[in-house]
Amino acid sequence: MNLEQAIYQRRSVRRYLADPVPEEAVQKLLEYAMAAPSACNKKPWEFYAVTNPELLGKLKHTHMFTNYNSPMVIIVAGNLKKALPGKQKAFWIQDCSAAVENILLGALELGLGTCWCGLHPNDKAADAVREALGAEEHIVPLGLLHIGYPAETPEARTQFDEKKVHYLK
Ligand SMILES: Cc1cc2nc3c(=O)[nH]c(=O)nc-3n(C[C@H](O)[C@H](O)[C@H](O)COP(=O)(O)O)c2cc1C
Repeated sequence: MNLEQAIYQRRSVRRYLADPVPEEAVQKLLEYAMAAPSACNKKPWEFYAVTNPELLGKLKHTHMFTNYNSPMVIIVAGNLKKALPGKQKAFWIQDCSAAVENILLGALELGLGTCWCGLHPNDKAADAVREALGAEEHIVPLGLLHIGYPAETPEARTQFDEKKVHYLK
């Protein structure tokens, strides 16, 4: 699959096969994630790759829109101790989001489906996930990514909308 195909084929998958995700594939996804750009190259991120069934169950119930049957999730979290100082601290959200998108696109190449479920700034969900992971206060879970072999294939599409484009020639 080339990059153009991956961009259009990346859709949220909400039904998965039970087959586990091979460890080499997880490793690849984490490598893709950490190749993402980040402000001043601070890389203020942490990744939690979860396959433990009990923990998976807990994580998926942390808010009402995350309860899908994927065999694993990756939580992408900001590490506020590694973030930029002052007002620029908030760049951690963009940094982690870039890492998320790399995972979502990279998964396509590996035949995997994904669904990005948002946590921060939903404090209740982010706190519940942090607690379930046993992580410290300076770790802020941004997104819970379901990952697995897809049991559904949403249609590829572009969503291109000329009205959203402002050409300044
Ligand atoms: C920040 C963010 C949070 C999201 N949270 C959820 C969620 O909690 N549950 C869910 O099923 N999908 C979630 N999604 C997926 C969106 O619903 C989905 O991307 C959107 O409807 C477009 O569909 P597509 O991903 O198939 O292109 C989230 C996406 C983003 C970017």
